[in-house]
Amino acid sequence: MKLNNLYNIINIKYFDDERGSLCAIESNKDIPFEIKRIYYIFNNKNRLVRGAHAHKKLKQVILCLSGSFEVEVKNGYYSSSYELNTPKIGLFISSGIWREIKNMTKDAVCCVIASELYDPNDYIHNYHDYLREIKND
Ligand code: TYD
Repeated sequence: MKLNNLYNIINIKYFDDERGSLCAIESNKDIPFEIKRIYYIFNNKNRLVRGAHAHKKLKQVILCLSGSFEVEVKNGYYSSSYELNTPKIGLFISSGIWREIKNMTKDAVCCVIASELYDPNDYIHNYHDYLREIKND
């Protein structure tokens, strides 16, 4: 992985017609991993930050199904922020990247498609521990 490759934008395939829009995502085809889990974050209170952590193994695609929010990503050398505000774009984030979800609007629904089942041991919650781990790699 290139050091500055913090995320990749995925254009989700969509079908617009007179009734509205439909987006579809297929495992291993539209995203670069097998889907093992989906979760979504909504009803955000006071624009509090969510998801401030990195994963050792898990890869993910973050989608904004409603409203908007920013995804801040860092790897200890580079940082970047991307605003998601349409369900037609997904943000692919590989393992080993620190990410935070910020400035969620009241109506925001953040959907995360994950390559792994929930495993608390796959998380790095502390940014200093994260920096130590990646700089020892
Ligand atoms: P947490 O990791 O704090 O959310 P965030 O991604 O915003 O940092 O998760 C909140 C709670 O939900 C916590 O008790 C763990 C639980 N949880 C599950 O049980 N399964 C899951 O797949 C996820 C993502 C969280």
